[in-house]
Amino acid sequence: MDPIFKRRSIRRYTDKYVDDDQVQKLLRAAMCAPSARGARPWHFIVVRDKESLSKLSYAHQSAYMIKDASVAIVVCGDLREQSYRDYWVLDCSAATENILLEAVQLGLGAVWVAVYPRNERIIYVKNILSIPDEIVPLCVIPIGYPAESPEPKKTYDESKIHYEKW
Ligand SMILES: Cc1cc2nc3c(=O)[nH]c(=O)nc-3n(C[C@H](O)[C@H](O)[C@H](O)COP(=O)(O)O)c2cc1C
Repeated sequence: MDPIFKRRSIRRYTDKYVDDDQVQKLLRAAMCAPSARGARPWHFIVVRDKESLSKLSYAHQSAYMIKDASVAIVVCGDLREQSYRDYWVLDCSAATENILLEAVQLGLGAVWVAVYPRNERIIYVKNILSIPDEIVPLCVIPIGYPAESPEPKKTYDESKIHYEKW
């Protein structure tokens, strides 16, 4: 099945190690994303350290699964590299989705854990990972081998589609 249609948020992981080759594939997929004017204002922090993963899992109440992941990728935007104001969010979101889809392709599970735009979360994550001033963390993506396999959702909704005009 096409990863796009198969993808679900995975929040439970086995203990199996996600190796560096797989992480490299995820990062390559991320950097294939489109970005405004080709600015590619993204940076990625690969976190394996258990203590850091544990701290990140306290960023907010829906971040708990980070501590159980084999690895997490923190997707960040560089405000100096974006093409227009705030476009880093769009560019880095596209990169995030590519990681989530490549994870499915590799038989891995992942979930988008929001950091931006909540200021208290941004400060919390920046402190843990020593992220410099001009760099903003968009999200944390915990990744592991799935310990749950939710069914693909039926999300197609005709009522959301408008032809020619609203
Ligand atoms: C911008 C954004 C922020 C999200 N933040 C979180 C989060 O902080 N924690 C979490 O467990 N899931 C988070 N999710 C995942 C959504 O809850 C999930 O995509 C949604 O419930 C649909 O389920 P599915 O991904 O399995 O299709 C986020 C998704 C997006 C797109």
